Amino acid sequence: MENLTLQKSIEISNELEKDLKINPGKYKILSGFRPTGNLHLGHYFGALANRAELQKLNIEMFFLIADYQVLTDHDNCDKISQSTKELLIDYYSAGIDLDNEKTFIYPHSYVPEANQLLVPFLTLVSMSELERNPTVKEEIQSAGISVVNAGMFCYPVHQVADILSVRANVIPVGADQLPHIEMSRVIAKRFNNKFCKEKPLFEEPKALLTKVLRLQGLDGDKMSKSRGNSIMLKSTREEIINVVKKAKTDSERFITFDPENRPDVARLLTLISLTSGRNEVDVANEIGNGGAKMLKDMLVESVDKFLTPIRKRRKELENNPEKIKEILFRGVDKAREEATKTLVEVRKVMNMCI
Ligand code: TRP
Repeated sequence: MENLTLQKSIEISNELEKDLKINPGKYKILSGFRPTGNLHLGHYFGALANRAELQKLNIEMFFLIADYQVLTDHDNCDKISQSTKELLIDYYSAGIDLDNEKTFIYPHSYVPEANQLLVPFLTLVSMSELERNPTVKEEIQSAGISVVNAGMFCYPVHQVADILSVRANVIPVGADQLPHIEMSRVIAKRFNNKFCKEKPLFEEPKALLTKVLRLQGLDGDKMSKSRGNSIMLKSTREEIINVVKKAKTDSERFITFDPENRPDVARLLTLISLTSGRNEVDVANEIGNGGAKMLKDMLVESVDKFLTPIRKRRKELENNPEKIKEILFRGVDKAREEATKTLVEVRKVMNMCI
């Protein structure tokens, strides 16, 4: 399988970003998330804010909830249904319009026609290609699993079925997902070559790389709920205070913005900047001799204010399970409609109609 370098992927993504604004009609976006828990500020600035921006381009958007993928590395699956709904609420609270007639959100386990595409697609890749996937290898390592189930090696192909079933051609992702998007291009190409060379059925999807690649947690580690170092979209003021209290700073009193030499202080300033829209250096200048105490107080205020409208939106849906169901089933209906059309075409070119 050809491997695009990161540099090349960034170039393609930048071109795509420009063209999305010029020719929105050419595109269909699909973005996916695993339902494994609530979203935090890292997700917001890394992905959700950008998805809300994309929505303004008036392009058809599919938000896929990858519930099947949770089975690949989680023993504990008793919360998938709850996490699916929480994920939807997090999206909505972050300002994503789920009533929009061009936006659809759904769990992929509810779309049998898409899942069916997995069967022919699996025959288009080799075992060694599956075993070589760097993201899968990384996941196996970090989850520390000794007996790896076949679903772990095959989920990237399932992801290709997610994408191609609704004919999405723009996939907003972080760099870790690039091997999977590459696989969707390879499978689209091989399918066309094998079954419909004259009249290619599938377009090769492109990755739209997310800008802020990774926002660290307040202790300098990756933001993660289990480490207790992150601020969730649903955090209350008290919860914010608790996380901020534990945040690392340094021993120098005078606050300056110096990411290289003072990463701990810089991290907090960046969070203030992101949540207030102010420049980091201006914030640092204002604090100056106020030290870590003032820095942390400002951080609490800034994040709390930022989350206020988000919490309000969350309430609108949280108390309305009927509405949540309605939104999910509207998504399921649309995804099934698209996937059924695709499956009919696929059967035709594979000469399997009866
Ligand atoms: N693998 C993605 C993740 O871990 C989730 C996902 C599933 C996805 N299907 C997708 C992403 C299709 C993009 C396109 O977050």
